[in-house]
Amino acid sequence: MRQTFKEVNKESYILAKAGRPLFGEVEVSGAKNMVTKIMTASLLAKKGKLLIRNVPMIGEVFLTLQLFDQLGVKYQLNSDKTLEIEPCGFKSSEVKFKGEEGNRISLLLAAPVIAQFGEAVIAKPKGCQIGARKIDFHIEGLKQFGAEIKETEDALYLKLKTGRLHGVHIRLPFPSVGATENLIITASCAEGESIIDNCAIEPEIIKLVEFLQKGGVEILIRGDRSIYIRGTDDLKLSDITIIPDRIEIVSLACATLGTRGDVFVRGARQDLVLTFLGVLQRIGAGIEIRENGIRFYYQDKMKPMAVTTEVYPGLPTDFQQPLAILLSQIKGTSSLHETIFENRFEYLNRLNGLIKSGEKFILGQDCPADNPCRFSGKGFTHFAEISGPVTFGKGEVSICDLRAGFALLTAGLLSEGLKITNLPLLFRGYENPVGKMKALGADVELVL
Ligand code: EPU
Repeated sequence: MRQTFKEVNKESYILAKAGRPLFGEVEVSGAKNMVTKIMTASLLAKKGKLLIRNVPMIGEVFLTLQLFDQLGVKYQLNSDKTLEIEPCGFKSSEVKFKGEEGNRISLLLAAPVIAQFGEAVIAKPKGCQIGARKIDFHIEGLKQFGAEIKETEDALYLKLKTGRLHGVHIRLPFPSVGATENLIITASCAEGESIIDNCAIEPEIIKLVEFLQKGGVEILIRGDRSIYIRGTDDLKLSDITIIPDRIEIVSLACATLGTRGDVFVRGARQDLVLTFLGVLQRIGAGIEIRENGIRFYYQDKMKPMAVTTEVYPGLPTDFQQPLAILLSQIKGTSSLHETIFENRFEYLNRLNGLIKSGEKFILGQDCPADNPCRFSGKGFTHFAEISGPVTFGKGEVSICDLRAGFALLTAGLLSEGLKITNLPLLFRGYENPVGKMKALGADVELVL
């Protein structure tokens, strides 16, 4: 398995242009937003080894392994996409990012590190610039569990107030994915019982819960987004397989449909993309759900649609960007109302400069009149009107965030020739994206 993400750097670029529709079969990789959370949670174990299967070969895993290197965690990443971790007895309580690099995972290391050392120095998370991405829920939560926290510009200094983290009853102000995971991991090693209300319940979070429950943590999920947890100081490790990446499934589907193609995504699972399939049914795109994957195919007369991103199980924000490019190919006016991140439309701004025929994307700060969201009246550009079909001319565009990266790659496949730069962002979350597109017949080159 070629680890292309390691070869891609700031100077690398992609050349993409319109050719024939995407056609054939492609396999979805393991989920970015599950693998790193399992890696992190495994550090709660005091003995044993963990084997993770179906690990995606992406920058995000590599960045997390760099954090493991700093802690002194032993691991081996194998060419068959397995990762072996020997979590116990790591030697350092400090993680920092080098230069501009970073991800959201540092913050999830707080509990495993303080559980072992009573203190931790944790780099503040980095990641895509799609909003302010505050970490107040994490900090407030960790404090309640019994950590004293001092903040500097780029790090958190944490110290246990008493001998061990202790269970708490806490309510998240918003069902944040990262804060839910952080508090679940923290409660899993805390003494006594915890209740976390208003949790996120994404499939990757449920897999994290399964992993911890199997390891001996008592966990009960209630119907109202409330999770009860009784922690353990003796987490047992058992091998685990990473589920397919639902965001990659959607990205591949949108590229297929946008280019009027016909592609079978092997490994795609209906349960992971249920809401998205509903959107495709409404649009009138072709879907065929099979035992071992989903076929997506273009159909004449697809219809525009007004789409709102929501807390899962609503339509996930991560699907918004690939979907925008598909909507841009459909005759009529569609809209996207982004309610999770306040600043996730920069890529449309960049693409506006490249539209050759058709109307420019209209970006706005107002919510639809019948659907106000928590960003209403706050001056955030979180609404887009897309009137299709558009075509893109020749030019250059720099990737502004990970999912935008795939959207821009798809736009490249509908253009007269796009040079796409800032590739580390794309390869942080997609395994071999150019190779996969090429195998489906796309006119695309990766220049390293
Ligand atoms: N929020 C706060 N305070 C906090 C935490 C979150 O105000 O302490 C707000 C955020 O600013 C945002 C909302 O809550 O407005 C939701 O953020 P969330 O915490 O859910 O995001 P995250 O955990 O930082 C993860 C994924 C994202 C995905 C979101 C969906 C990982 C590593 N990242 O981010 O994935 O979009 O959940 O909510 O799991 C991606 O893969 O490209 C990606 C961006």
